[in-house]
Amino acid sequence: MGDRYYDLVSKRAQRNMDAGEPAGWGGDRAADAVPLNFGFPYPDSYPIDSLIKACATALREDGADALRYGGGPLAQEFDDLVAARCSERGLRAGEGNILVTNGSAQAISTVCSLLLDFGDLILVEAPTYMGALREFGNYGAEIRGVDLDGDGILTDELQRVLEELREDGVRPKFLYTMPNFHNPAGSTMSMQRRRHLLELAEEYDFLVVEDDAYGELRYDGEDLPSLRALDESDRVLHLGSMSKILAPGFRLGWIVGPEPLIEQADRLKVDGGTGPFVRAMVGTYLREIDLDERIRHICRGYRSRRDAALNSLQEHMPDGCDWSEPEGGYFLWLTLPESVDVTVLLADIAEAGANPLPGNIFFPDDRGRNNLRLSFSYPDPDELDRGIRAIAEVVSANIK
Ligand SMILES: Cc1ncc(COP(=O)(O)O)c(C=O)c1O
Repeated sequence: MGDRYYDLVSKRAQRNMDAGEPAGWGGDRAADAVPLNFGFPYPDSYPIDSLIKACATALREDGADALRYGGGPLAQEFDDLVAARCSERGLRAGEGNILVTNGSAQAISTVCSLLLDFGDLILVEAPTYMGALREFGNYGAEIRGVDLDGDGILTDELQRVLEELREDGVRPKFLYTMPNFHNPAGSTMSMQRRRHLLELAEEYDFLVVEDDAYGELRYDGEDLPSLRALDESDRVLHLGSMSKILAPGFRLGWIVGPEPLIEQADRLKVDGGTGPFVRAMVGTYLREIDLDERIRHICRGYRSRRDAALNSLQEHMPDGCDWSEPEGGYFLWLTLPESVDVTVLLADIAEAGANPLPGNIFFPDDRGRNNLRLSFSYPDPDELDRGIRAIAEVVSANIK
């Protein structure tokens, strides 16, 4: 943009400009390298034929209503289906508790516009989803990370941080967390930590933003209740999405939460309605299919990719490296020896044949330089093996 307009744009835009583009954030670094960076569904997972039919049906049945602001009866049917499904999962998604958004990305920004003023403190897991970090930064939040392990956020550490903040007279506005199949760490929060986290939220009086974008994609083990299902004091905002179970291009997500907050969030979201025609079309599609069956089907595709990636890591990575073994979701989190700085190896890794994401973009404080996030959702198993071999080759050559 240059200096000419800097003083004319908002403080939010200025913050975004000042933050710049961290190394390795998005973008292809080598065209024929395996895209381990994309958090995309695998291409064959899209039900193209059924969607073509649903598109025609929505136009025939809803006619002009499908194309107006806000949408017609079929768009409403989509909202009702989502609300019913959330309620089946124990999310208490009655009328007034749910707001459909333009992907869960808009759910995150709506939560920010509802809750944040410049300078407010929020807590996140370290590492956390880089898109959320970016958005929290855009809204002027001060961000503090709390470490996690394979069982989710370290709630004892969280308590220590909360106590320290209380002594300084600071109350965090909210904690942003991904209890299921964490992006990027792949961890799932244990039941004991879920309960402890909610106790802490009550004791220290903050809201919890639970991002469950991957929650329905479990490949092993038993489902655990979401934080909103366990919460008895109505302080959890639960974010969901159609992106990973159907298609991100529809841009459909939702927030389920306390009625007064949802009502206010709805008033702040001035956009003519969330994708009215897309909701009509997806509503028609969902009416015709068994969504649970579809999810079981794609989980088989994701499970075989995850297993191929884990086998490949086991076979090729040198000693001193460690990785998560996620029960679901899209991501593997690779920890390399402390002496390795991935940010300087990305170009070599791309040249060798893989495009992973560097760990530091997932931390509010530039840690994670010896971590890589590998997304196994998109490439097929052979490609995953090729990509992981490329990473192993470069890492082996750079371990001191
Ligand atoms: C944890 C998490 N939350 C939210 C999103 C945004 O997803 P969408 O806006 O497509 O629902 C993503 C996308 O990758 C994600 O990984």
